[in-house]
Amino acid sequence: MLSYLSLEKKLGFDKAMPVTEHWSAAPDFLALVSDHCLQEKPQVIVECSSGTSSLVLSQCCKLNQGGRVFSLENGEEYATKTTAQLADFSLTEYCEVIHAPLQDTPVAEETFQWYTLNALPAVKIDLLVIDGPPGFLQKHSRYPALPMLAERLAKHCTVFLDDAARDDEQALVQRWLAAYPDFQVEYINNERGCFILKR
Ligand SMILES: C[S@@+](CC[C@H](N)C(=O)[O-])C[C@H]1O[C@@H](n2cnc3c(N)ncnc32)[C@H](O)[C@@H]1O
Repeated sequence: MLSYLSLEKKLGFDKAMPVTEHWSAAPDFLALVSDHCLQEKPQVIVECSSGTSSLVLSQCCKLNQGGRVFSLENGEEYATKTTAQLADFSLTEYCEVIHAPLQDTPVAEETFQWYTLNALPAVKIDLLVIDGPPGFLQKHSRYPALPMLAERLAKHCTVFLDDAARDDEQALVQRWLAAYPDFQVEYINNERGCFILKR
């Protein structure tokens, strides 16, 4: 099984990335996302939830000599922590961690707890990485990502959804595909499951 260590070596980190067991994205998910980044060189990356994934995405931008990450983080303490980690890895210039508290968000005749988007600039997103909000918060916790960011997605874009082996993520992707039939989907049967949607 792929380890954080092999990912660090592959991406040229000179020290171990901070990892929180069960909360950080798994190394095989981060490897998929970083392979995509290094190959496709997305200029605008938005991620839902910050942490180890922010360091990986920022390092890819550094290696690509371009691109910027906007990381939506609901927890103020985690936003502060990730910002400090980016500074510790000299990656500050590649990533803006946006403290985006969860708020009542009406989507498709339901109300979800989802990120406040006020501080996200009007960017066109090439790559969207979804690893939050936590699934236990509500049914289809990550469903709002596509409807709420649809207007900001570039014509050609890629979306990675983590924890996709869960029934909840399986169901919410079917809802996405029904609402956005212009996306092609692929399921990767890795440690926690991953959906990759492309348009
Ligand atoms: C699955 S975690 C995000 C992981 C992040 N993408 C990464 O790769 O490290 C989703 C959210 O859980 C929260 N979180 C992170 N670590 C936590 C912890 N140890 N305990 C409780 N919540 C945590 C943060 O608000 C984070 O945005």
